[in-house]
Amino acid sequence: IRRRVEPTKFFARTQEFIKQYRVGTESGIPVVEPPPGSDIYMTALTYQWIPVLRLRKGAEYTLHLSALDVNHGFSLFPLNVNFQVVPGYDYGLRVTPTEAGDFRIICNEFCGIGHHTMVGRVIVLDESGNEVGRSGGAQ
Ligand code: CUA
Repeated sequence: IRRRVEPTKFFARTQEFIKQYRVGTESGIPVVEPPPGSDIYMTALTYQWIPVLRLRKGAEYTLHLSALDVNHGFSLFPLNVNFQVVPGYDYGLRVTPTEAGDFRIICNEFCGIGHHTMVGRVIVLDESGNEVGRSGGAQ
């Protein structure tokens, strides 16, 4: 699904979501652990993905993804998920993590001077809610 949304409103909704489920902070970015089945929000802005998500393997979520300022590219590494994130649109994606681990979101659309540093993080916990170590995973 894709629907129009005011970028600042979407960002405000993201902040609200963060306030509700925040469990910590990592390098200045809030870390959020929403309950399985919930609607989750992520905003792309120069040059960050906010927040860091902690999700549960096997649980279904509706991921709302939008950009605050300019176009960004959502690329989930090492899974082969690529998505254009455009301000003014809320993309509601149904996601069910099938693998526990520590994943990176890379921006694959040139968005300015900090483009190459725009890296986000998604942590997928195992079914019992524990973090799993990934052997040889990039830090
Ligand atoms: Cu955001 Cu490149």
